[in-house]
Amino acid sequence: MAGTCVIGLQWGDEAKGKLVDLLTPNFDIVVRYQGGANAGHTVVVGENTYKLHQIPSGILNQGVVNVVAPGVVLNPRTVLEEIDGLLSRGLPLEGRLMLSDRAHVVMPWHAAEDAAFDKSTADGENIGTTMRGIGPCYRDKVGRSHAVRLGDMLRDDFQQRIACIVDFKRGILAALGGKDAELDAAAIFQDYHAYAEKLKPYIADTTAYLLDAVEDNKRLLFEGAQGALLDIDHGTFPFVTSSNSSGVGVSSGSGVPARWVDKVIGVIKAYCTRVGGGPFPTELNDETGEHIRVEGNEFGTTTGRPRRCGWFDAVAARYTARLSGVDSLSLMMMDVLSKLPEIQVCTSYEINGERTQQFPSHVDDLRSVKPVYETLPGWREDVTGVRRLEDFPKAARSYIARLSELVEQPVAFVSVGPDRAQTVFVEK
Ligand code: GDP
Ligand code: IMO
Ligand code: MG
Repeated sequence: MAGTCVIGLQWGDEAKGKLVDLLTPNFDIVVRYQGGANAGHTVVVGENTYKLHQIPSGILNQGVVNVVAPGVVLNPRTVLEEIDGLLSRGLPLEGRLMLSDRAHVVMPWHAAEDAAFDKSTADGENIGTTMRGIGPCYRDKVGRSHAVRLGDMLRDDFQQRIACIVDFKRGILAALGGKDAELDAAAIFQDYHAYAEKLKPYIADTTAYLLDAVEDNKRLLFEGAQGALLDIDHGTFPFVTSSNSSGVGVSSGSGVPARWVDKVIGVIKAYCTRVGGGPFPTELNDETGEHIRVEGNEFGTTTGRPRRCGWFDAVAARYTARLSGVDSLSLMMMDVLSKLPEIQVCTSYEINGERTQQFPSHVDDLRSVKPVYETLPGWREDVTGVRRLEDFPKAARSYIARLSELVEQPVAFVSVGPDRAQTVFVEK
């Protein structure tokens, strides 16, 4: 058995990137398998900060192969920017980065469709997407007839394929009323042909590579993007992303059978955040929320949008931990809660006067949730220098223990700052 997954258990931005980077030295291969440039994973290595969107967060460690698997939707222009950024910072990529020829390609019309569709939602509230064309690209993948895969860009009929799709998309975009209807097939082909030439050394059949790797007992680390509450099938639909961002997506996105995965680490923040629209039962629209936003620097890595902040929601985290098959937790951003006199944790929901521990499936029920809180004492001490569990203030230790109890999983890591070193490895 060879596979470990890192899965966000909230609405994304749980600091998965930090954890993946930290764990990478114990693995041979790191795999991104869903999402795309909607993700923003920050890794801090000493003085250097790296913001990764499509390239796995294992890339900063030498000697490890980083794979972008078929379930990812890839924007060739921005992935080249990421590649150039890494190369210019002295990180060699040759033989260390593989992009699946089956991964779907984000095309210029996808961003235009993203903007047009998000303006008009049946729910009256916008999803507030990252505008990276993610949903429209997945829509074309499922629709099949107008999709482009990375491998298609290297084929002789690519120009003809673009011309046919552009013909069709012009009609769609004109109906949506956008100026982007004036798509120029020749110019798009020229750009994408040039991207394909530059990406060629990295494009491969990653499925065959990963299947060989697991049979050869290589150690694989799967890096989830987004968070399980944004999962298309199991999240807070329709305020979700367009892929399976909970643990259930690992196998379909990577092409590696689930039986090769033997460990799932659920990543949680010590509180909750959410970017974009949708219900958020424990949201704090007050000065405590603002305090958390400032202390945690809660502004989007991809879009710079201020993140909505709120108390830890144990009902949601217990749901997503079970859904993802989690067997340990990584508790991030513990330092951000220092200075609060007391901390609240949501232990159950009240819906229409009834208490429940179940996470509701319908958005209207989620909107009507009254969180039931337990109040725990806060701590004043700065914990950014803590490296052992026993060195946390007593109230912080009790907080960690209580979250573990509520989510019903052991805590294996506690993070007290962005740097690799600012991590507590909890002894079993
Ligand atoms: P991801 O999308 O899950 O990888 O998370 P993001 O990178 O979008 O957001 C997490 C942010 O928190 C990044 O800026 C990290 O550098 C930072 N970070 C990671 N761990 C900690 C921590 O324990 N404390 C603090 N204060 N910041 C952290
Ligand atoms: P990482 O990997 C936080 C959110 C968007 C929006 C919804 C749909 O950094 O944790 P999309 O562009 O995917 O169609 O937007 O999902 N979203 C994220 N929120 N972190 C992310 O990724 C996100 N990726 C998408 O804000 O609400
Ligand atoms: Mg992020």
